[in-house]
Amino acid sequence: MDSRTLQKKLVGYEAAKRIKDGQVVGLGTGTTVRYFIEKLGEKIKERELDILGIPTSYQSFLLAKNCGIPLTTLEEHDVDIAIDGADEVDKKLNLIKGKGGAHTQEKIVDYSAKKFIVIVDESKIVDELGKSPVPVEVIPSSLRMVCENIKKLGGKPSLRFYKYTPWISDNGNFIIDVKFDSIGDPSRLEKELNNIPGVVENGIFSKNVDEVLVGTKNGIKVLK
Ligand code: A5P
Repeated sequence: MDSRTLQKKLVGYEAAKRIKDGQVVGLGTGTTVRYFIEKLGEKIKERELDILGIPTSYQSFLLAKNCGIPLTTLEEHDVDIAIDGADEVDKKLNLIKGKGGAHTQEKIVDYSAKKFIVIVDESKIVDELGKSPVPVEVIPSSLRMVCENIKKLGGKPSLRFYKYTPWISDNGNFIIDVKFDSIGDPSRLEKELNNIPGVVENGIFSKNVDEVLVGTKNGIKVLK
C-alpha cells in the first residue's frame, strides 16, 4: 500500500473511533471515507452498536449497505456527526469538495450535522483554495447561462464528461468544473456561485467544519 493510501486508511479508522453508540452518522463519499465506512461497519457488528448512517451518494449508500450499516434519511433523523473527505483544505478549514460529483448531498448532510469531521491525506492541505477546480452542479437546461455568469465571476468553466457524454450526478444534473486563478474569499464565492440561476450547489464548503484529521507520514495531525 502506498503512503497516501496508508494516510487515508489511518484517518478513516481514526474517525470510526469517534463514533459513539446511539449516534446518527453522515456518511461522506470518496476513497478516504471508504475506510471509515468499512471500519464503522465492523465496529457496529462486533459491539452490536445502535448506529444509523445517512449516505451522501449512491456510492456510499451501496458501500454502507454491504458493510451492514443500518441506514436512515434526513426526513427521519438529525445528523449527530458527519465524516467526509475533501479535495482541498486551507488553514481556515475552508474546503473544496466534489471531485466525485457528490458535493450537493454532502453539503446538505455535512452542514446540518451537529459535528462535522473532515478526513484527508496530507496532499490535500493548501495555503489557499483554488489549485483544484470548484465543481458546480447545474440544471442541464441552464448550462450556457450558468457558464456565462461564471465567466463574469472570473472562473473558467468546463463541463465534466464521462467518455463522450456529460457526466450525470446522482441528482440527474450536469457538473461544471470551474478553475479560478485565486479564491481570496471562499465564503463569498460560495454564495456568489449559488446565486446564479440554474446552479444547484457548488463545492466550496466555508462553514461548519469542527475538525480536520490529516494523515501524515508521522501519524495523524488534527486541525481545528
Ligand atoms: C465527493 O464528491 C467528494 O466531495 C469527496 O469527498 C472528495 O473528492 C474527497 O475524495 P477522496 O477522499 O477520494 O479524495
